[in-house]
Amino acid sequence: MTETLGTILERRFQRRSLLGGLAKTLPVAAFATSLRGEDANRDAIRDFRLQFSSVTANSRDAVTLAAGYKHAVLLKWGDPLLANAPAFDSANQSAAKQEQQFGYNCDWMDFFPLPSHDSNTARHGLLVVNHEYTNPELMFKNYAGYNSQTREQTEIELAAHGLTVVEIMRDASGNWRYIPSSSYNRRISSLSTAMSFTGPAAGSSWLKTAQDFEGTFVTGSLNNCAGGKTPWGTALSGEENFHQYFSNAGALPDGPLKSLHARYGLPAANGDYPWARHIDRFDIAKHPNEPNRYGWVVEFDPYDPTSRPRKRTALGRFRHEGVAVQVARNGRIAGYMGDDERFQFIYKYVSNGTYNAFNRAANDKLLDEGVLYAAKLNDNGSGEWLPLIYGQGPLTSANGFTNQADVLVNARGAAALLGATQMDRPEDIEANPINGKIYVALTNNTLRTDRQLDKANPRAVNRYGHILEFTEDEADHTSTKFTWEVFLLCGDGKNSAHGAFFAGFDPSQAAAIANPDNLTFDNKGNLWISTDGQPGTLRINDGIYAVATEGPERGNVKQLLSLVAGAEAASLVLNPDNTALFVSVQHPGEGGRWTDNSADSISTFPDNAQPVRPAVIVVSKSAGNPVIGS
Ligand code: FEO
Ligand code: CA
Ligand code: CA
Repeated sequence: MTETLGTILERRFQRRSLLGGLAKTLPVAAFATSLRGEDANRDAIRDFRLQFSSVTANSRDAVTLAAGYKHAVLLKWGDPLLANAPAFDSANQSAAKQEQQFGYNCDWMDFFPLPSHDSNTARHGLLVVNHEYTNPELMFKNYAGYNSQTREQTEIELAAHGLTVVEIMRDASGNWRYIPSSSYNRRISSLSTAMSFTGPAAGSSWLKTAQDFEGTFVTGSLNNCAGGKTPWGTALSGEENFHQYFSNAGALPDGPLKSLHARYGLPAANGDYPWARHIDRFDIAKHPNEPNRYGWVVEFDPYDPTSRPRKRTALGRFRHEGVAVQVARNGRIAGYMGDDERFQFIYKYVSNGTYNAFNRAANDKLLDEGVLYAAKLNDNGSGEWLPLIYGQGPLTSANGFTNQADVLVNARGAAALLGATQMDRPEDIEANPINGKIYVALTNNTLRTDRQLDKANPRAVNRYGHILEFTEDEADHTSTKFTWEVFLLCGDGKNSAHGAFFAGFDPSQAAAIANPDNLTFDNKGNLWISTDGQPGTLRINDGIYAVATEGPERGNVKQLLSLVAGAEAASLVLNPDNTALFVSVQHPGEGGRWTDNSADSISTFPDNAQPVRPAVIVVSKSAGNPVIGS
């Protein structure tokens, strides 16, 4: 049975009260840091080495792992989640069934321990999973294409977008399984789940539509890409490539709205998905403001299956990747975010209020009241966080900004006016739990020319991508100044033409890697990286890599896992004791189609059959030791 929030809070308070007066006067993160201390940090780094030898990179249609590791499939597209949910039947799918089953193209995941967010339980928890997008050519047998897509197919696709919350546990044999029909299990569907807008843009004219004259709610979230976890145990999900579902921005009259849509890449005519043919709100000519309801960060409580998701407008509108939330020393919340588009920006949000570790509900306004910043990276290695505040600098009516809602809805335009640095597709950003530094994955930018180079984006036609390392001034996540350096310039270190740089480590001794997309850290401060795009750049499948960030092995990239044909490793997360690594296998078989002719498909993952099914796999060491080493 689901625990009530009251029970969870009561037990947490009892445990916290044992910590005594110090814990009552310091935010939890500061308390942990003071206990740990710099000496302990150095010991942790010294004691740790990534123990495995790289798997041989390959292009097989199989999950292959470094020696000593194994994997198992935990969840697949269509697996029944809710009580009485039907079993997956690929030939008889419907939107109603899909809304009770695991969605398509799993992306970001995080592990939320049970029974409560601060319980640190390693073998039992909730997995929260984004379902970023759909591949109709792989979902529907003999899919006849864009012009022939039916309304039913459109609704199935919408129902397969959104999020899943699912209870998982490791059994006595050491095997992970999900709990069908758990009262925690939930589908957040892009077809039907109502969400609220909060923060400065809620109720603004930008968000008012035929469905909602007040501009305060919306049905569904779109293109949930990466995400994050708050210290109070809620989930954050970023809406990324929302533009591709809409059509017909070109039908609007010239003016601010048409310019806004152009800046955000909304299609002038047909979008990538033909949804506007069946569902009017995806037709911008009929519903001009509808796209403005997407491109936000959604927060919800995975421990409460009835909680209403909120789109937190204070965090700005762009093609959100994830949010890396940190508690600063002064107790404020900082959230680091990327806008995944060529020449777009890195952002940071800082709350006005401070984190309350004793009263979960008291944190409800932290993501509504605060300041959004965009990053400027100077060539001398310094950096500045530039505030996006209405009325300050160029963010005035002279440039079309009349209030803070205007600034947030058009965060891209505001950041550009402030002079933020145009980056090579900012993907995931994560904070290192040991050294406190911030790592930014920049996946590629083949459009950058020699004339557009800067020290932070130092390669023209950047095919392989890179990773930057930020150090906030005074190690303060609320600082407006930072320094930065290049951590990795990706590529094959054995090929000098790639110009790879691995933090000073001999590149010929490290594994080749390209197109870093998603990041996580283990408990020892090693950076784990998943890739998206290696078939096109290194001619190998995408995979999972790990690299030390400190010590003599800093920069020594190792490859743990190679994925199946057509797939990217869209997300990776470790459980609290690091004995399990969960990996999203997204878009297996992409590039092929599902027909009677097996030559049309490039993958049979995971059932050695069609249709291919995006899945979450669990990687562990054969002996049940931590995945990160011996
Ligand atoms: Fe959805 Fe930028 O990856
Ligand atoms: Ca991503
Ligand atoms: Ca991706």
